[in-house]
Amino acid sequence: MAEVSVDRGQQFAHRGVVSFVRRTSKLPPKLQKAWDDYARHYLLDIARNPDGGELSVSPDFVFDADYVQAHWGNTNPLIIEIGTGQGENIAAAALANPAVNYLALEVYDPGVAHTLLRAGKHSIENLRIAQVDAADLFEHALAPDIAKEVWTYFPDPWPKMKHHKRRIVQPALAQAIRTALVPGGMWRIATDIDDYALHVHEVMDEAHGFANEGTKSVSLATEHVGKGNADDAADLPHAEFPESERFEGRVLTSFERKGLEKNHTVHDFTYRKA
Ligand SMILES: C[S@@+](CC[C@H](N)C(=O)[O-])C[C@H]1O[C@@H](n2cnc3c(N)ncnc32)[C@H](O)[C@@H]1O
Repeated sequence: MAEVSVDRGQQFAHRGVVSFVRRTSKLPPKLQKAWDDYARHYLLDIARNPDGGELSVSPDFVFDADYVQAHWGNTNPLIIEIGTGQGENIAAAALANPAVNYLALEVYDPGVAHTLLRAGKHSIENLRIAQVDAADLFEHALAPDIAKEVWTYFPDPWPKMKHHKRRIVQPALAQAIRTALVPGGMWRIATDIDDYALHVHEVMDEAHGFANEGTKSVSLATEHVGKGNADDAADLPHAEFPESERFEGRVLTSFERKGLEKNHTVHDFTYRKA
């Protein structure tokens, strides 16, 4: 197994708290080959912030329609996925919808490499990948009204109470995404962690400028539980929350499969820019 080391220097770069702990490791040969073969074509060279970490974005960098034109060759509608993991969703969507542009945001080397492999293997032309802190990119570089949709599927759960602030769904990111979305654009979120679902409702149901488009009612505990007391949630007061049916374009990923194997309930959310 590849030796994994934690690059702790990246954890607090540029922003106060980030949603990931970056582990660097030597890629297995197949993924290294994918990187060597396809990175030049698919991986965007996002300008780095010299005063931040290697995954933060330069204050001068602007991701706007000219940038899209230069890197996708057109200004078709753009869908951005935050935390693409192995790229199952974004590659499938890009293949199925050639008239839409897709941007995969991921921090983890093997995830980026898997997505490069999928893109290269299928010669997907409407997909680009950026290895950046998605929150930093949204909060500092994205032009207004640039994205049709943003997807965040199965974000890292950060189950310990003291780590809930690391959850990527936060009010500041919500407002940055709202700015980046076109009018009527959507932020689609999914999680298999009930406590994260409560967190999403708390951040998003009251978020300025978003409407929860949920059409079904889901019962959730109204108090938070952490890693050690997650089982206590059943005995806590509950309330009904509006959530969405599974987004039909969302494919089953290995993260979702693992959650289903543990009998987790999957929560889907659709927040429309009002
Ligand atoms: C639990 S995985 C889910 C991956 C994928 N969405 C799926 O459903 O299979 C969460 C992913 O988000 C990535 N991630 C966490 N924080 C991020 C950030 N700030 N910017 C980009 N990616 C991030 C992690 O590296 C990880 O691959």
